[in-house]
Amino acid sequence: MESELNRLREEALSALAEITDSTGLEPFRVRYLGRKGGSLTTVMRKLAEVPKEERPRLGALANSVKKEITSLFEKKKQELADARDAGPAVGNLDRSLPGRYLPVGKLHPVTQVMEEICSIFEGLGFAIAEGPDVETDHYNFEALNIPKHHPARDMHDTFYVSDSILLRTHTSPMQARIMENQEPPLRYIAPGKVYRCDSDITHTPMFVQVEGFLVDRQVSFADLKGVLTSFLRRMFSKDLAVRFRPSFFPFTEPSAEVDIGCVICGGKGCRVCKRTGWIEILGSGLIDPEVMKMVGYDPDEYSGFAFGLGVERIAMLKYGIDDIRLYYENDLRFLSQF
Ligand code: FA5
Repeated sequence: MESELNRLREEALSALAEITDSTGLEPFRVRYLGRKGGSLTTVMRKLAEVPKEERPRLGALANSVKKEITSLFEKKKQELADARDAGPAVGNLDRSLPGRYLPVGKLHPVTQVMEEICSIFEGLGFAIAEGPDVETDHYNFEALNIPKHHPARDMHDTFYVSDSILLRTHTSPMQARIMENQEPPLRYIAPGKVYRCDSDITHTPMFVQVEGFLVDRQVSFADLKGVLTSFLRRMFSKDLAVRFRPSFFPFTEPSAEVDIGCVICGGKGCRVCKRTGWIEILGSGLIDPEVMKMVGYDPDEYSGFAFGLGVERIAMLKYGIDDIRLYYENDLRFLSQF
């Protein structure tokens, strides 16, 4: 047995010396050190058969051979790993350089705010609908009580595609599109991009609106105020300053715009709020009876309210951004903060 152990030792050491890459390590371990059928294990099992007085000496020899082979094997393993990590450059590849991390993308801040707005309204029982960005003059204006040559068309600087096709200037066409196909009660929000020839620190030529409307029996202005105030309190804080300011839209009567206290200056007055301390974030009102009639509803039976929110404005106030155009400059240093 002694000569068998010595022969095995010689054989294992020379086999180990011939290993030049990590693929040779596992076959070596299985062959010499493996618990099932490894050469050393097999020889050591024979210890039970040697005479009793020989057993301590041969047992010690077998253990020291096993220890030596195991420790040389571990050393070899480490050497090969070190050589792999700090190996010389291969072509243009320097394997000692740290790896490059791929940046992880995320949703645009305006999309994040739009999703938050939608989820608050969903919680208030509103369903979501979407419509086309390229719209007809009929839905964008006429179905909303804005006939051709009506002065209210000047409220929107419209991008026309042809005489009767345009890029929608607001999400309000969705009121008419949905109402003419469904019977009340209705409770919808319609988020989407809209377009106007407009650009300054609170206006961009493309921006996102969320239209909302509710039609049922006996809907009043109090319902509109309740829903919008509840939304704004969830979106911002409970002590947010909110004001409903009388306004005009041809498709609502009465109409109101909603302003919230400028969070950039805390209401003191700055260039964002044009020194007023307030920023307008939405238009709203009770749906005009003329609009109801055009979609075939009886205005004596049904009434409703509608509103259109500017998502970028809300995102500006939420994050304290003092120029709306920053959202669309695609500067990753800005966008990655959200
Ligand atoms: C409208 O667009 C109406 N359709 C809203 C409405 C819906 C009224 C339903 C009544 C009933 P207005 O033009 O005010 O209204 O725009 C609504 C909001 O969009 C504004 O309060 C503002 O927050 C935002 N907004 C308007 N123009 C721009 C722009 N160029 N860039 C960014 N946000 C804008």
